[in-house]
Amino acid sequence: MIDLRTDTVTRPTETMLAAMTEATQGDDSRDGDETVMKLEALAAERTGKQAGAFMPSGTMTNLVAVLTHTQRAGEVLLEEGAHILNSELGGVAALTGTFHKAIPGKRGAMDLDQLREKIRPMTRNNMGTALVCMETTHNRAGGAVLPLAHMKAVYELAQANGVPVHTDGARFFNAAVALGVDAKTIAQYTDSVCFCVSKGLSAPVGSVLCGTNAFIERARAFRRQVGGNMRQAGGLAAAGIVALNSMVNRLKDDHASAKRLALGLGKIDARLTDPNDVETNLVRVDVSFTRHTADQWSQALAKHGVAVSPADPRSLRFVTHRHIGAADVDHAIAAFAKVWSEC
Ligand SMILES: Cc1ncc(COP(=O)(O)O)c(C=O)c1O
Repeated sequence: MIDLRTDTVTRPTETMLAAMTEATQGDDSRDGDETVMKLEALAAERTGKQAGAFMPSGTMTNLVAVLTHTQRAGEVLLEEGAHILNSELGGVAALTGTFHKAIPGKRGAMDLDQLREKIRPMTRNNMGTALVCMETTHNRAGGAVLPLAHMKAVYELAQANGVPVHTDGARFFNAAVALGVDAKTIAQYTDSVCFCVSKGLSAPVGSVLCGTNAFIERARAFRRQVGGNMRQAGGLAAAGIVALNSMVNRLKDDHASAKRLALGLGKIDARLTDPNDVETNLVRVDVSFTRHTADQWSQALAKHGVAVSPADPRSLRFVTHRHIGAADVDHAIAAFAKVWSEC
């Protein structure tokens, strides 16, 4: 089966497995673990922040970021397609005590006029904006990369209103590679950022939240509150260190695979996908004008050895990663063409 459902299916490399075996076994939440501290320092250095905190998932780093920035009060402004809003089961509402406002956007970038309208101070009649969140690369927008100028504009607007900014960077290094800049060049436009080592970077588990020393110190308490203390996490951190040191540059191969896929599908029918929209390792494919729903497409493609998930009833999401080569991409295109000719 050619698995294009997600990049979390990536398996740890041999080097990761060796590093995991040899890792220290300190208790992360008691005296600390040397390897975890090394990963956190490396993450902070790469994002240009003072400190980092290792957690089990991207969802938890986002949750802890919202808790830490807002201290459980006020409004959180996010782009309407944000993963935090659409795919984290309402944690922002259910677990943080904040409420959100969705800002319409294009390719994951919030409409700045709308953001300017919605951002507001606390008064006796409203709680005020406690946090603005961005997301890059943007999952629902098909792996779109936020332009640096947009991030700068959002950050300056938030700063002018005394509001902190958090960036959900589950695939932050995909964004950096696509823009051809260091991660810290992007992270200069956000107070906190989290990224996953578990996706295209191929480590088995984990995300790191980065920010100032004071922010991360507070975040550690919230991490504990939501059950995110990691105990003997040295093995997981060891894989994360290998991910950061040796898996970032190769993400460009995943981006090239996604582009090849989009070009191939676009040749079947230009309405399916626009290759120009493919900036990283995600390809959104619109099947709304075909006779199959996204679910039916997914089932039909599986019969031809291609696993792909519906993004919603009208579209599919293909995700490329380290285990997908050019031949796999070509097989997926051929499978799609076969189903297309049958439906
Ligand atoms: C943009 C974005 N944020 C957060 C997450 C959540 O990460 P995790 O699955 O590690 O909780 C994902 C997962 O795909 C994501 O795409």
